[in-house]
Amino acid sequence: MTETLLFFRQLLSRPKQISAIAPSSRGLARAMAAGLRPGDRVVEFGPGTGVLTKAILAAGVAPQNLTLFEFNPDFVAHLRTSFPGVTVLNAGAQTAPAHVPNGVNAVVSGLPLLSMPLAIRESIVKAAFDILAPDGTYTQFTYGPRPAVSDAQIARLRLKVEQTAYVFLNLPPARVHKFTRA
Ligand SMILES: C[S@@+](CC[C@H](N)C(=O)[O-])C[C@H]1O[C@@H](n2cnc3c(N)ncnc32)[C@H](O)[C@@H]1O
Repeated sequence: MTETLLFFRQLLSRPKQISAIAPSSRGLARAMAAGLRPGDRVVEFGPGTGVLTKAILAAGVAPQNLTLFEFNPDFVAHLRTSFPGVTVLNAGAQTAPAHVPNGVNAVVSGLPLLSMPLAIRESIVKAAFDILAPDGTYTQFTYGPRPAVSDAQIARLRLKVEQTAYVFLNLPPARVHKFTRA
């Protein structure tokens, strides 16, 4: 089955979990992987069919240094076949601290945070910073005009955020935000 067909079949059966009308474009994937270096230990949240995963590996990250957290078992089966050497966990992003030793350099998230309650968004970003090294980064795209967590949550988690890209060629256009410790 092609990746596009797999995506749309899963979108029809689990619309709330996917919460996107199409997989990310290659331009958005490149913007999400910008700044990653070979040798980095990277965790990806919500890889879906693996569009961002490809860009992370293309940036030079070694498969054995990449761990994916994906809820959907059909996507997990596809990811395990497509990306040999990458660790693919059929688990929620919130459980990352139970699976991954801390000191990770970057967490790249394709999760549909805007469609989740605020408390869950905060628990996901917190889980990311529980595994990140002191200078580690959490990169998240959003279809909205503002970061996907509120100013109050950013302050509570002691983070700062900057917009690193606006990708018009994506359906819909998306902003990329990079979160770091304040
Ligand atoms: C919008 S799709 C994004 C897919 C891909 N990253 C992209 O950008 O095209 C969101 C993915 O996140 C997964 N997902 C949703 N909630 C999750 C969670 N709490 N933990 C892990 N994966 C989750 C869904 O199953 C889906 O594959």
